[in-house]
Amino acid sequence: MRRMVAETRLHPADFILPAFVREGVSEPVPIGAMPGVVQHTRDSLRKAAVEAAEAGVSGIMLFGVPEDTKKDALGTAGTDPDGILQVALRDVRAEVGDDLLVMADLCLDEFTDHGHCGVLDDQGRVDNDATLERYAEMAQVQADAGAHVVGPSGMMDGQIGVIRDALDQIGREDVAILAYTAKYSSAFFGPFREAVGSSLRGDRQTYQQDPANWRESLRELALDLEEGADMVMVKPAGPYLDILARVADAVDVPVAAYQVSGEYAMIEAAAEKGWIDRDRAILESLTGIKRAGARTILTYWATEVARTLG
Ligand code: PBG
Repeated sequence: MRRMVAETRLHPADFILPAFVREGVSEPVPIGAMPGVVQHTRDSLRKAAVEAAEAGVSGIMLFGVPEDTKKDALGTAGTDPDGILQVALRDVRAEVGDDLLVMADLCLDEFTDHGHCGVLDDQGRVDNDATLERYAEMAQVQADAGAHVVGPSGMMDGQIGVIRDALDQIGREDVAILAYTAKYSSAFFGPFREAVGSSLRGDRQTYQQDPANWRESLRELALDLEEGADMVMVKPAGPYLDILARVADAVDVPVAAYQVSGEYAMIEAAAEKGWIDRDRAILESLTGIKRAGARTILTYWATEVARTLG
């Protein structure tokens, strides 16, 4: 009877797998703070994409990790057609075609030597409008490389409008935008910084949201929709279920939630110590996110969970 009356059910198609691909490595590199997650080689990424598709996962979100020597102040490797993210997008599209939605993180932080999501002004502050020009170019390069969806995650003001225009200008009305709408300046991104070999010193409080606030999420939401977002995202997920529920109530576009690296690491670490039932905790965390209103969930457990459901 419990099965019959359950109001929330997880399905493989609920999930998107975030994946890291690192330039210049011949073996996958384990990420210490994310047991079970690796920085992929080009080859192992292709395999992971096929496995995700076979498990029924909806999409894959790619993050590129360039060689350290390729990082610079402008994040040039992020717009280089032969940069690691673009190469990986082409690899994955060649492998999975349209069987899996191929998404690209659209942000400069993996490619800048200072680790910020944008370019800096002469006082070392993130320069919003100069960054928008970089994002426009990045969107076009990612579309050319085969991204079905771009995911702007830098929280610059006006980024969605600029990216939509840039895509339309090159005739790519078909490329959708998954806007990181409500992205909080969060300690739960900690393990991700290791995952992408981030060069960041300091924090992103000047452009990501204050965990104390919910109203500005609705403001960001209104702006993103007005500028042309096709889907919107709340991130992190678990500590922000109230935001997720409010956003889901407010819109008629699909809503995504990103269960981030720290949420993953907490459950894995507690399970490793024998302090929590890993599999139940994973399913419960994902059920909570879906119950709160997420249509789509980005989670590092995507393939594993899809397999157990399928
Ligand atoms: C920025 C970006 C971040 C994450 C996804 N995109 C890091 C940040 O904003 O500091 C975090 C994802 C995670 O923690 O799993 N490109």
